[in-house]
Amino acid sequence: MSLGLHTSIGNAVRVTTTRAGSGRVEFHAIPFDGTRVVASAVVSGPLDAVGSELAFDELWVAPDMRGTGIGTRVTRAAITWADLHLAAGIDTYVPEENVAMQRLLEQLGFERRPELEHGEESWTQIFALTLELAG
Ligand SMILES: CC(C)(COP(=O)(O)OP(=O)(O)OC[C@H]1O[C@@H](n2cnc3c(N)ncnc32)[C@H](O)[C@@H]1OP(=O)(O)O)[C@@H](O)C(=O)NCCC(=O)NCCS
Repeated sequence: MSLGLHTSIGNAVRVTTTRAGSGRVEFHAIPFDGTRVVASAVVSGPLDAVGSELAFDELWVAPDMRGTGIGTRVTRAAITWADLHLAAGIDTYVPEENVAMQRLLEQLGFERRPELEHGEESWTQIFALTLELAG
């Protein structure tokens, strides 16, 4: 799996990781030249188990920083973290109307998993996407 390089401001942030309990790790993006958090995300699940399927959620980028590669940068950090911790894959769910998030994920190798998607009874269609890390 190649994560490639992203020639954008997304390269001008560092991403910190914080373990919040046994089942949750938080990612925060902070510009090299600043102190505010400009993006965050969460990976959850059985973090210390080998070969587990982890969940990627809550990606948020500060409104004034969107479209500059930071969401991609944070998601790459989460993928790298999961890979280094021997996860088998990462699952996430995205509302149908969130085209930006779907494109971000698909550019990083996530693939649609229609069999995991929510039924029509929900208020909005939810797409399931998975990135296989091993196997
Ligand atoms: C969705 C979100 C995380 C994307 O983060 P971002 O930092 O703006 O995304 P990036 O700059 O890394 O862009 C990655 C890709 O997403 C897509 N994208 C980003 N913004 C887009 C937009 N407004 N419309 C369509 N596609 C978009 C593009 O394909 C882009 O790749 P490209 O630059 O090569 O074309 C951000 O807009 C956000 O925080 N939204 C509100 C919270 C949210 O919806 N979180 C996801 C919950 S499921």
